[in-house]
Amino acid sequence: MGGRLVSTHMTDRSHTRRTVLTTGAAVAGVAAGGAALAACGNGGDTSSSGYGDSGGGDSPAPAADQPLAALSDVPVGQGKAVTTPDGQDAIVSRPDETTVAGFSAVCTHQGCKVTPEGAELKCPCHGSVFDAFTGEVKNGPASEPLPAVNVKIENEQIVTA
Ligand code: FES
Repeated sequence: MGGRLVSTHMTDRSHTRRTVLTTGAAVAGVAAGGAALAACGNGGDTSSSGYGDSGGGDSPAPAADQPLAALSDVPVGQGKAVTTPDGQDAIVSRPDETTVAGFSAVCTHQGCKVTPEGAELKCPCHGSVFDAFTGEVKNGPASEPLPAVNVKIENEQIVTA
């Protein structure tokens, strides 16, 4: 008996599935630039109006308006020994209520320092006497008057002029 061999030919079909996964997700890196919180630290109390009065500097002379003595420190009719801002010995005096005068305190004889005595300026070295209001020689041996120092009254002060 002859049978048929039925051969079953099975075709093996390999099914190859290619799955191409294309992942195109571009991840945009979001820079987390955090909100910059600007802390406002300034209290803003700058309310000072710093405009000072330009105090009447009329004269450009650097030595002017330097205080020498309070007016009340010099009795009317007398003189007072002072020192100028640049270190010179000087005399200021008040011939009357509204007038001031100033002189070098260096004796014109040999350079000693005169001292006020009432209405006069006396030199201790050789006895010269000067007028406290004009600087003129009243008694020798000095023969030259005391050099004047320009002064004026300002705000109840005797100041250089
Ligand atoms: Fe003043 Fe001689 S120095 S009198």
